[in-house]
Amino acid sequence: MFQQLKVLAILCILSCSSNYTYSKTFLVFGAKTGWIGQQIQHMLIKQGHKVLVAHSRLENRNDVIAELDQVKPDCIINAAGVTGRPNVDWCEDHKQETLRANMIGTLNLWDCAFNKNIHVINLGTGCVYEYDQQHPINSGIGFTEEEAPNFKGSFYSYTKGMIDRLVVNYPNVLNLRIRMPLADDLHPRNFITKIINYKKVVNIPNSMTILYDLLPLIPEMAERRLTGNLNFTNPGVISHNEILQLYKEYIDPQFTWVNFTLEEQAQILKAGRSNNELDTTRLLAEFPHVPHIKHSIIKLFERMKQQVKIN
Ligand SMILES: NC(=O)c1ccc[n+]([C@@H]2O[C@H](COP(=O)([O-])OP(=O)(O)OC[C@H]3O[C@@H](n4cnc5c(N)ncnc54)[C@H](OP(=O)(O)O)[C@@H]3O)[C@@H](O)[C@H]2O)c1
Repeated sequence: MFQQLKVLAILCILSCSSNYTYSKTFLVFGAKTGWIGQQIQHMLIKQGHKVLVAHSRLENRNDVIAELDQVKPDCIINAAGVTGRPNVDWCEDHKQETLRANMIGTLNLWDCAFNKNIHVINLGTGCVYEYDQQHPINSGIGFTEEEAPNFKGSFYSYTKGMIDRLVVNYPNVLNLRIRMPLADDLHPRNFITKIINYKKVVNIPNSMTILYDLLPLIPEMAERRLTGNLNFTNPGVISHNEILQLYKEYIDPQFTWVNFTLEEQAQILKAGRSNNELDTTRLLAEFPHVPHIKHSIIKLFERMKQQVKIN
């Protein structure tokens, strides 16, 4: 069922693509094997763009330069990076590998592109903050793009937070801060799949990215040549329990789950996990139609239910 859901989910993302009258050449890093990179590749092809999958490793400067010279892309999408398997805990014990891709490699790509005046759209993360006194849970006060990361709980987030601060020095780079990506299929990397499979799950409201809504905006971001950091989530927050309740309602009526506290969760994890709300003012100024998370997630489960029925 998962494979069929995956194909149908990709088709759903493609079907909401806009009618672009221009076409660009995109070079996508992380599309050979990466979950999000492959979805971006398919979406760009559907929108009529020329897409090439990058072969060079981010940190190999000569290879990257040669590939840029050969492809001459209008825009580079960087969906490559070390994320850790089975999860980000892996990065705690593989710091050099994590730095090599997420900092040295990513900076290398931005720098090579800068020298050739090529726009880069980089997939970063919004998991660089945690709720604090100025941004309490459920306050509606989200972290803006200008605020410095305050989450130091995991090495993965640390590397992403460092690179996040360096974007300002590269006028050719847009860094998209994705969080807890939600897809229409039950791919293992989908946040929904992750939390339905946990033995115990925390229950905290968070900003999240519904890929169906957000990924199709990327070509227009390239067209506008946006730069800097951008909080790339749907407006609003949603909690783990709200998602699980919808999963139960739409997909599996027999589904049950058990909650536990953040303190209990910390005992089973090597690295901390970030919980936060991001401010989406900048995103909505550029794309006012991006739907609120609580509205959009209903549509997501309706689409998922349709696919489950078909299968
Ligand atoms: N999925 C999430 O929950 C999430 C949330 C927020 C942000 N993000 C960010 O979004 C991006 C894509 O995430 P994803 O879920 O699609 O990750 P993924 O499935 O783990 O894919 C990562 C891709 O990066 C490639 N890669 C790793 N190191 C590389 C290097 N040094 N040079 C070139 N390619 C390299 C991998 O290729 P190989 O297999 O060949 O190494 C793989 O294709 C990542 O930067 C991630 O940090 C993801």
